[in-house]
Amino acid sequence: MKTDKIFTGIFRIDGKLATPNLVKGMRVYDEELIDSGDVQYRLWNPYRSKLAAAILKGLKHMYILPGSSVLYLGASTGTTSSHISDIVGEKGSVYCIEMAERSMRDLLRVCENRHNMLPILQDARNVSSYSDEVGMADVIYQDVSARDQDSILLANSALLAKGSYAYVAIKSQSIDVSKDPKAVYSQFITSVSRAFSVVEEIDIMPYDKMHLFVVLKKK
Ligand SMILES: C[S@@+](CC[C@H](N)C(=O)[O-])C[C@H]1O[C@@H](n2cnc3c(N)ncnc32)[C@H](O)[C@@H]1O
Repeated sequence: MKTDKIFTGIFRIDGKLATPNLVKGMRVYDEELIDSGDVQYRLWNPYRSKLAAAILKGLKHMYILPGSSVLYLGASTGTTSSHISDIVGEKGSVYCIEMAERSMRDLLRVCENRHNMLPILQDARNVSSYSDEVGMADVIYQDVSARDQDSILLANSALLAKGSYAYVAIKSQSIDVSKDPKAVYSQFITSVSRAFSVVEEIDIMPYDKMHLFVVLKKK
């Protein structure tokens, strides 16, 4: 078995992306588990996770690190956030904001086994409802299917220090289906530019056609 390290906590196992399973023996979705010595890896599906897609498409800047505190907006049922939980490890935290009760039911099952994942049933527009619990985050990860994705990021940027980073999957279809996605992405970046500069933009085709993945730095 050939294991290559891509970033700390992120590997390629025989060419496939993987993270070391924080909770051995437990799957979160239908991912394959692979044992290698003391470590068990979880394969990370780029068709199910935009962060995995961005990494496979050559993401250069990775600031989600062991020990990081990550504010995750739009956690859904926990697919990507569980891999982030593997990366940040026991000393890190992933604050999972999700407003859909149905998704939260599945997410709670994932968080029961992963003590570094903290589920918060809330609208990510209501930052003050969770700001005390989260405190200042090292990184924001945003993947919300909402029209006002720019305002949501700006509101949550209060929990990010100057010089820290946000990873955002901009979903053109949720913002405006009638517009060219490129125009929608550009409108989003202009809208958040008072608080963020763009570090990297990644086209995540062929894994996902309707998102642009961006790394932003807080000004
Ligand atoms: C595309 S899914 C996220 C998938 C997830 N990030 C993953 O990769 O595993 C988008 C999620 O955003 C949630 N969402 C949309 N608007 C939201 C808001 N204002 N606050 C919190 N969650 C929101 C939806 O309920 C949905 O679960």
